[in-house]
Amino acid sequence: MNKPKQKVLITGGGSGIGLSLARKFLDHGDTVIITGRNLKKLEDAKRELNQIHIYQSDVTKEEDIKKLVDLTQQEFGGIDVLVNNAGIMNLLDSGKDGNDLLKQMEEIEINFHAPIRMLHYFLPQLKKANNATLINVSSGLAYVTFSQAPIYSGTKSALHFWTMAIRPQLKQHQIRVVELLPPVVDTKLADDADLKDDFLKAMPPEKLAAIFWKDYTIGKNEIAPGVSKILRFMSRLAPKFIFKQLNKQAIPTK
Ligand SMILES: NC(=O)c1ccc[n+]([C@@H]2O[C@H](COP(=O)([O-])OP(=O)(O)OC[C@H]3O[C@@H](n4cnc5c(N)ncnc54)[C@H](OP(=O)(O)O)[C@@H]3O)[C@@H](O)[C@H]2O)c1
Repeated sequence: MNKPKQKVLITGGGSGIGLSLARKFLDHGDTVIITGRNLKKLEDAKRELNQIHIYQSDVTKEEDIKKLVDLTQQEFGGIDVLVNNAGIMNLLDSGKDGNDLLKQMEEIEINFHAPIRMLHYFLPQLKKANNATLINVSSGLAYVTFSQAPIYSGTKSALHFWTMAIRPQLKQHQIRVVELLPPVVDTKLADDADLKDDFLKAMPPEKLAAIFWKDYTIGKNEIAPGVSKILRFMSRLAPKFIFKQLNKQAIPTK
């Protein structure tokens, strides 16, 4: 498919998967805007990719998002593609006394509430866009829950079901809805959660972005690279078996 040039906004695009996706869109000649909380991270990305546009913006802050809507409207005449990529993952033993409740609520805010909030405020721009697309980055863990990260797994399966539910609704407005469900990918998020030692080999973010781009440009709407594809298959074929495989160690070790 010969894709037209588009204006693409990627939340959490200053590192990891978001930055790799940004490179793909830039390679294609698109205008790319990335956001995040940490300005230094964004400035580092800008040093490497001169043509990228950066905005410090927190997906959990209503006023930041409204400001972003105004800025993108003024600077670029609106966006065509919204990529809800920002996310965090915390390991947690829910049976432990004294867990930090605010930290658990923050994870829900960033991973699940924020994509809903972003769509809410960017919907008018997407409705006016050419080939409008919403891309939600969930996780292979949306197919099979991972006990060591219970809030994360919950948010990603919620994001998965929300994405499926809104797809036929937004189609009525010519907005394509795509979901990328990455496997373990070699980023800070996976590092911090010790995921890379846990199950199977981490995929380099560049490889993930290459698979995404291929599937995205041929029109696939549910993109499950590598192990995520296996998780999808096994969750249907043998859900109890794959749950046990993934959760041999239910309590985080660190
Ligand atoms: N790596 C994996 O194994 C894996 C697997 C499946 C799915 N995913 C998903 O892929 C997405 C990207 O993660 P990653 O692996 O690339 O990790 P990463 O390198 O840590 O990237 C996450 C990005 O989200 C941004 N972010 C976090 N909270 C934010 C907030 N409140 N507002 C705006 N930006 C925020 C971070 O920037 P700041 O800290 O500067 O805000 C960071 O740039 C996440 O949704 C994650 O759940 C990752």
